[in-house]
Amino acid sequence: MEETLLKIKEVRKHFGGVYAVNGVSLNIKGGGIWGLVGPNGSGKTTLFNTILGLHRPDEGAIYFNGKRINNLAPHQIYTLGLVNAFQIPRLFHKLSILDNMLLAARGHQGDRLLNSLFLRKNWQEQEVELADKAMKILESLELDHLALSPAGELSGGQRKLLEVGRGLMASPTLLLLDEPAAGVNPNLGKKIFEGINDLSRDGLSFFIIEHRLEILFDFAHWVYVMDKGKIVVEGKPEEVLEDPTFYQVYLGE
Ligand SMILES: Nc1ncnc2c1ncn2[C@@H]1O[C@H](COP(=O)(O)OP(=O)(O)O)[C@@H](O)[C@H]1O
Ligand SMILES: [Mg+2]
Repeated sequence: MEETLLKIKEVRKHFGGVYAVNGVSLNIKGGGIWGLVGPNGSGKTTLFNTILGLHRPDEGAIYFNGKRINNLAPHQIYTLGLVNAFQIPRLFHKLSILDNMLLAARGHQGDRLLNSLFLRKNWQEQEVELADKAMKILESLELDHLALSPAGELSGGQRKLLEVGRGLMASPTLLLLDEPAAGVNPNLGKKIFEGINDLSRDGLSFFIIEHRLEILFDFAHWVYVMDKGKIVVEGKPEEVLEDPTFYQVYLGE
């Protein structure tokens, strides 16, 4: 937990006259689950999209593993290992779970895939390797027994886990998740976070926006609270829960 993975320095992003992100600085170190919470419209998703290269910041700098990334295109950031699981093209409901995993990996491989059409042997080896990797990930998410079932047959919670799984096909070092427990019942929400927790024990880092505070606070080891484009509180969950500012922010919602 020493090395800084993601460093955000004084980032601002505005839409018209409104600063959605208004001077955010934060550090995410390797390992663990880092939370980002705040009322609706506080700028959380805009901050994520700026990290992921979908928005250019108007001011400030973003570094990943010491490399400046805020001038890079989204696919370049993805290749560096900073991945948003929920941004990968949508699930194909009639295709198997395994096929969906493989498509997630291919969707980001454009050039390499084209090259491989001319190198058939290479292509086959790559297929086998990818399928192997996909099965290992499905195993870690306890979805391996469903690998050949259509994705459309999964429950809401399993579908979220599959989305995490598709993100893992990129071998990320930092996975960004925007509301993984949204729209699923509390038990499933907890299950999803248990899966995330297991992966974080294996060394993967997570930065998670979550509206279901009661679930997030059970698992996150550090929480950033955002309001009106700024980080207003940060700390361990129990510290955040003792900070009056945290409650003021939510009372204003
Ligand atoms: N693409 C956009 N164009 C214009 N305004 C936007 C855009 N995206 C977000 N906003 C505005 O920026 C503010 C922050 O939104 P958002 O980042 O989605 O907040 P959160 O994810 O915390 O709910 C809101 O006022 C929202 O209306
Ligand atoms: Mg949002």
